[in-house]
Amino acid sequence: MQPKAKFRKDYRAPEFTITDISLDIQLDADRTFVTSTLKVERKVEGATHLRLDGHSFDFLSLKLNGEPYSNVEKDNESLTIDVSAVADQFELQIETGLNPAQNTSLQGLYQSGDAICTQCEAEGFRQITYMLDRPDVLAKYRTKITANKAKYPFLLSNGNRIAQGDLTDGRHWVEWEDPFFKPSYLFALVAGDFDLLTDYFITKSGRKVALEIYVDRGNLDRASWAMESLKRSMKWDEERFGLEYDLDIYMIVAVDFFNMGAMENKGLNIFNSKFVLAKPETATDTDYLDIESVIAHEYFHNWTGNRITCRDWFQLSLKEGLTVFRDQEFTSDLWSRPAKRIEDVRLLRAVQFAEDASPMAHPIRPEKVIEMNNFYTVTVYEKGAEVIRMLHTLLGEEKFQQGMQLYIQENDGKAATCEDFVSAMERASGIDLTQFRRWYSQSGTPELTVSDEYDAARQIYRLHVTQHTPSTADQLEKLNLHIPLKVALIGETSGQKIPLIYQNESINEILNVTQEQQTFEFHHVNERPVPALLGDFSAPVRLDFDYSAEQLIALLKFADNDFIRWDAIQTLFNNELKENLARLQQGELLQFSEKFADALAMLLNNVTDPQLTALMLTLPKETEFAELFKNIDPIGIAKVREYLLESIAAHFETNFVQLYHINECGAYQVNAEDIAKRALRNVCLSYLAFTDRGEELVKAHYFAADNMTDTLAALSAATKAELECRDELLADFEEKWHQDGLVMDKWFALQATRPDENVLEIVQGLLEHRSFNINNPNRIRSLVGSFASQNPKAFHNADGSGYRFLVDMLIKLNESNPQVASRLIEPLIKLSRYDNQRQTLMKRGLERLKNLDNLARDLFEKVEKVLQ
Ligand code: TRP
Ligand code: ZN
Repeated sequence: MQPKAKFRKDYRAPEFTITDISLDIQLDADRTFVTSTLKVERKVEGATHLRLDGHSFDFLSLKLNGEPYSNVEKDNESLTIDVSAVADQFELQIETGLNPAQNTSLQGLYQSGDAICTQCEAEGFRQITYMLDRPDVLAKYRTKITANKAKYPFLLSNGNRIAQGDLTDGRHWVEWEDPFFKPSYLFALVAGDFDLLTDYFITKSGRKVALEIYVDRGNLDRASWAMESLKRSMKWDEERFGLEYDLDIYMIVAVDFFNMGAMENKGLNIFNSKFVLAKPETATDTDYLDIESVIAHEYFHNWTGNRITCRDWFQLSLKEGLTVFRDQEFTSDLWSRPAKRIEDVRLLRAVQFAEDASPMAHPIRPEKVIEMNNFYTVTVYEKGAEVIRMLHTLLGEEKFQQGMQLYIQENDGKAATCEDFVSAMERASGIDLTQFRRWYSQSGTPELTVSDEYDAARQIYRLHVTQHTPSTADQLEKLNLHIPLKVALIGETSGQKIPLIYQNESINEILNVTQEQQTFEFHHVNERPVPALLGDFSAPVRLDFDYSAEQLIALLKFADNDFIRWDAIQTLFNNELKENLARLQQGELLQFSEKFADALAMLLNNVTDPQLTALMLTLPKETEFAELFKNIDPIGIAKVREYLLESIAAHFETNFVQLYHINECGAYQVNAEDIAKRALRNVCLSYLAFTDRGEELVKAHYFAADNMTDTLAALSAATKAELECRDELLADFEEKWHQDGLVMDKWFALQATRPDENVLEIVQGLLEHRSFNINNPNRIRSLVGSFASQNPKAFHNADGSGYRFLVDMLIKLNESNPQVASRLIEPLIKLSRYDNQRQTLMKRGLERLKNLDNLARDLFEKVEKVLQ
């Protein structure tokens, strides 16, 4: 049977709802029994059949109003109960049996290490018991868990602990009640033995909230950063959004086996341990910041996601785009706003733009879904956040916050739609968002082509703007969007910012691009300007303006917008790469242009902001460069990129050495100043690795490091530059950390991205490594995922070996964990960007998958889209 698609347009309110659910769970890793008691209400008069979702468990019994009931029909994914002769309110009692230890999909109820936990978003609850498993059915939950006390001293669920007790057979029980109505995807349960870190937070209205973080035994010394992050998040949400926490307890549990980052279950977040655990010896600066932002993200969901949830899964961006926007703002307020912006834009350009160009292209509010797990994408999350950010730009902070208040007032306790959100923003601000709404329904990356014209005599400057959105796999016709374009004009010679004036009025720096072609005119422009376009990346578009190298250097020198300065150097890097790739393809010698060297020299000779300088000196990754091309030459890009690395290193060795020494830090501390210094110093190291002093310097750096940031920087530099010491360092690291999966993930990822010719052989060998475990998604992603997505040169090896390897892995994962398989397949479905030979080989791999007789719907949806 082929999986069937669901369409957004087919949404119907449910005929029945469930108001109360009481779960009695007899928990055991090998055999768990669940008794679910549901209070059901008929919502549509005359509705005769109640269809409940459920699969992957043993259905043991059903009672209707206390009596065994058999007027039902069961299929592979549901149970349909004939209730034609039943009153409008009735009670169902359902008994199921399941096996958490054998559930490798990590959805529903499963075992992680020695603990047992749940993952219910999007449709995992139905793997526990029959339920109206859809986000617009909001119920009150009461959960009683009974389990062996020695093995599972902690028994957790949502809400407040209301009772507990011991049994005589070594088991104990705990009962939980969640006072808030919630959809089934926010249900959670955890059982296990943990170390517990406790703290508290006093809310702005003076309530005391108990904070609890549960980690594997022995990891208490890695939990405090997460706790501090949680408190900062709670405080920030009160200050910036006026939002206060609502329960008396907030729990976070870190588990090792987890399909994604973390999950916002009401009052009981479950986290991938990667986003909780940190101490200086094991976590990098990036890890620290990632942990803080994921903790914040899940906490912010309590309002944007839980109190107000989604009506249906097509509305996912309602909670995800908004919550990502909120966590981005949090990080920007606490750390460096430009640095955060730059990192987010890099992700968007390299991954989201690529998704738009792939068979999986979809609007932030998808129209058609086969497997919902496939739509937790960079488009829904990151582009979704960009759409919220554009609203924020158009409305300004004050009106935006008024819109938030209205949205919350109107939708608290409900399951809402994206339209409810936009409508609240529109009514609160009085700004017409009719055209803006198209961002929700239209997929693809818009292109803005801009040209300019300067009339020196009349002091008039014009910008001609054209918008065009190329068609995408899911949608041929595109409409014009409402695009906020942030501009500044900078005097080409004076470097002065030129005020934006039309007639005699000053005009806003945000231009409203709404038509296919528009001209914006500026008056009293007394010198030829260089336009700084798309400041702060004011819209998720590709910008095409034919900047000369001189103009880019002027932006680099004079722009007051850090994003613009960073972007100017990006364009210089990109041009340098493109020109050299053309030379390479024509068999000419590669060249390092003087203009480019001038720009870098300027940067290196006056470093005022180490953080920004580090970002500006960072050479774009292969995957970032790849997005410059419709047809990607993975081998050529890798070659030219390495040439650029080496040339920059050789050219600026003295500068790098100097900066390397100036930016040394004292004992490791996580603060903005030190993070910035380490970042800059380690970028310098990554270049110096390619010089004659590389060997000595990198080795010394490795052995002097008192923290993972520096250790990993050295290890990475040694590997990328293929230094002699790299094997010694890799072995040293492995010996020290082989028991620690999270730390070994860094090592696996480095191995998988080695530039060595025989890297695939190395990766295949590592599948047998003592620290590797194919059932752990973090290990899979760092070894197999990094190879496929971060080592394009090896993955796209012309002999097809990279593709074959990935498909072999996918065939295994298709059975054990389809959700992870479906993320891993991404580089393979982007075949249309490569040459014919590669396309043929990639297709061959996809056909192997297609021919499996048990292809999971997750992979089916993607494979079908490519082969169509
Ligand atoms: N809602 C979660 C978040 O954004 C992500 C999520 C969705 C998830 N499905 C999941 C996490 C499955 C783990 C497993 O924070
Ligand atoms: Zn989220």
